[in-house]
Amino acid sequence: MTVRLVCQPDPAACDASACELLVLPFWEGPEPASDLSSWKEIFEAPIANGDFKAKAGETLLLYFKKGRILLLGLGKKEGVSSEAIKRAYAAAVRSAQEKRVKKIHLAFPEIPSLESDAALRAVAEGVLLTNYAFLHLKGESLKDKPVVLLKEAYFLGLNKAQDEKLKKWQTIASGVHLARELVNGNADDVTPQMLAETAKEWEKKTSGLKATILERKAIEDEKMGLLLAVSRGSSCDPCLILLSYHGNPSSKDHVVLVGKGVTYDTGGLSLKPTESMLTMKCDMAGAATALAAVQTAAALGLPVNVTAVAPATENAIDAQSYKIGDVYKAMNGKTVEITNTDAEGRLILADALSYAVKHLKPSLIIDLASLTGAIVVALGEDLSGVFCDDEPLVKELVSASNTVGEPLWRMPLVADYKEMLKSDIADMVNSAGRSASSITAALFLQEFCGKVPWAHIDFAGSCFLTKPKHINTTKATGFGVRLLIEFLERRQK
Ligand code: BES
Ligand code: MN
Ligand code: ZN
Repeated sequence: MTVRLVCQPDPAACDASACELLVLPFWEGPEPASDLSSWKEIFEAPIANGDFKAKAGETLLLYFKKGRILLLGLGKKEGVSSEAIKRAYAAAVRSAQEKRVKKIHLAFPEIPSLESDAALRAVAEGVLLTNYAFLHLKGESLKDKPVVLLKEAYFLGLNKAQDEKLKKWQTIASGVHLARELVNGNADDVTPQMLAETAKEWEKKTSGLKATILERKAIEDEKMGLLLAVSRGSSCDPCLILLSYHGNPSSKDHVVLVGKGVTYDTGGLSLKPTESMLTMKCDMAGAATALAAVQTAAALGLPVNVTAVAPATENAIDAQSYKIGDVYKAMNGKTVEITNTDAEGRLILADALSYAVKHLKPSLIIDLASLTGAIVVALGEDLSGVFCDDEPLVKELVSASNTVGEPLWRMPLVADYKEMLKSDIADMVNSAGRSASSITAALFLQEFCGKVPWAHIDFAGSCFLTKPKHINTTKATGFGVRLLIEFLERRQK
């Protein structure tokens, strides 16, 4: 999965006549995006013939003796963004994959509108994040059409000083892939127990990580009545997974990431129709992202203290299922009337938030969840919603999200809508119906955060795509890992 990125200061070290694939970048026009004069005789004719205009993401494959050369369009030069560069290199990686190339050489573009680090990161991430496939569930069809991923990418014209940075983005991309693997996996395989075992494995492999699993008994002792209620319809036991990394022991600062870990969401007795259930293996993406972000922070050795808290369960259907109209008691003592068993995410998150507030001394909490269909209606798949009343926190999150290209859109926590969560028989209901349902879901969570600064990210649209797009070659995107790492990195400063 992970392609090794190597800086190759001398472009002449690459022999175009024998290269598996040499990528030459152009601005729309076309105009060479760096000194490509050594390869002029190869690309002159196709350009003169008007076969290649270098529009964003356009590619033209040429053969030169035993070598392949890919002309890559980066689009308009003026004000080109990091995202446009990532998308162009995503197109290059897709072309490489079609030809089953294992090793590519890239002439490095000069990008006037980006700082050198941002330019390097955009090209590197375009390659790294696109170089992913999910093949575990393929069978016979792989024999006819094998998928070959890149093993090595040589960046021509870059000096060795850039190697360290490339390594860092490689580590981050591996973290994104960890999250994608878990989200793409069969719900029958990626069970609450499996998520817990995964955290334990990561603890063994990465120094500084500490995994703690609260099994059913511990969850009962903590009186996490909402997590227990949701889990009742499932043959799997629920668990609460904690993954900690204390990279700055002398500091009391502690970021807690809470991630929704519904390994499959049938809706429970408020059963989902088939089409809605089709994608519900994605409903543990919050947990996958929070866990992968902590793993990545540890792998990078960031000087921060961060803990992922992932309540994990299925929302299945069974004679034992929790019931619509009944009341269940949360860990913090609040009672909740269940008006819809399909609003299960906020229930398990509520107990996880209470746990974090009570036991983890958080400086701030960020929760991530595929929480509502309404956020997909509002923002589509490109943007995720962020709900937060702490101005500095939300500014930092939105800014970090724009830097890495995982955009967050601020949504309002409309205090007046708390009315809608009132219950006649309990402290609150879990679902207030369709109107503003992403907001009422967020308001529900807010009740369990005490006074701790808190942000809620609803990424139901961005965590799992209807079809692959740009740097995302599978449904699971790993959205949030890069954003959280960027957030943590800025925090250390
Ligand atoms: N897991 C779903 C939300 C979801 C929808 C995630 C689409 C990804 C794609 C969540 O548990 C859910 O069912 N939410 C309900 C809430 C409603 C009952 C208030 C919804 O959004 O319909
Ligand atoms: Mn649901
Ligand atoms: Zn759900």
